[in-house]
Amino acid sequence: MNIVNLIDSLYKNNNLPYNELVYILDNMTLEEREYLIKKSNDTRMKTYGDKVYLRGLIEFTNYCKKDCLYCGIRSSNKNADRYRLTMDDILECVEMGDNLGYKTYVLQGGEDPFFSDDKMVEIITIIKNKYPKNAITLSLGERSYKSYKKMFDAGADRYLLRHETANKQLYSTLHPGETFDSRKKCLENLREIGFQIGAGFMVGLPNQTNEHLAEDLRFVKDLHPHMCGIGPFIPHTDTPLKEYAGGTVEKTVTMMALVRLLLPDVLLPSTTALGSIDPTGREKGIKAGGNVVMPNLSPTRVREKYSLYDGKICTGDEAAECRVCIERRINKSGFSVEVTRGDNISWAKENIDKIN
Ligand code: 5AD
Ligand code: FES
Repeated sequence: MNIVNLIDSLYKNNNLPYNELVYILDNMTLEEREYLIKKSNDTRMKTYGDKVYLRGLIEFTNYCKKDCLYCGIRSSNKNADRYRLTMDDILECVEMGDNLGYKTYVLQGGEDPFFSDDKMVEIITIIKNKYPKNAITLSLGERSYKSYKKMFDAGADRYLLRHETANKQLYSTLHPGETFDSRKKCLENLREIGFQIGAGFMVGLPNQTNEHLAEDLRFVKDLHPHMCGIGPFIPHTDTPLKEYAGGTVEKTVTMMALVRLLLPDVLLPSTTALGSIDPTGREKGIKAGGNVVMPNLSPTRVREKYSLYDGKICTGDEAAECRVCIERRINKSGFSVEVTRGDNISWAKENIDKIN
């Protein structure tokens, strides 16, 4: 097999079988990787142009009932300093976000039973009443169909639920008592209800192989989510995986480029985790087809506490500082900042009535 030919075929058809994806991951040279990134960038230019969408991230609780082996806020981590933002705290973040121009907010938290369906409906309703044109994205983990439906009916627009890894065995090893199938079912439920959905995975997990990563690629191709968040695994000192090596910038960026070619219309974040393992990691992700960045809007006093992995960037910076910093970085990379709702283009074409 010739890798340049495989990349050309992927560029042209936006598809490639499992074996050929594994072959690329196993054998690609540096030059061929440059070519892949160029093709991925060309694809993004054709779909979204040079725009990079900003979303304000509000990390509103770090309580979590789950015990994912990689995650710093896992329930067994007794060193985690737990917090919950109040309704007023959340509104303050949203207001700050609106002032900074963000028209979409991501409410992210651990799986915290305190935030019941009623509580979430209340939060969503209040934000939507105040900012009816702004989009709300939720990222609260696995909940029932009924729960997702209530939050959607209250006005939530999008839901991020990374699938983490599409390999069933690796998934079970990392998530005690959980299955990949129930994760997948949640994503299907969210889509059926009407959310724009975000899947995604980590790169460089302990014992993860190129075969596993090719499974991730095939999974996202078949699921066709509106968004796909890809970040390097980064060990956290207070977790059982603390001794393992983390994922690399190169491999993460390669995976982003492959996902862009498989799904030209996907919203592809250049993640904080990528920026945390390399000072210009987010820029590298953007140049490889990434077109979303989620600057932090959480109050600075809680930033350190939302510690999923070691070395997270921006924990000491005010929201306004991140806003300026990120725009400068995006412009310097040759791209432009966009602070509209930034819906997935295919979704927007089918839902023009819902946007205004
Ligand atoms: N390293 C990198 N990413 C992590 N996440 C959780 N823990 C880690 C870690 N140690 C990611 C998961 C989750 C998202 C919110 O953060 O993919 O879905
Ligand atoms: Fe937060 Fe640069 S994005 S300081």
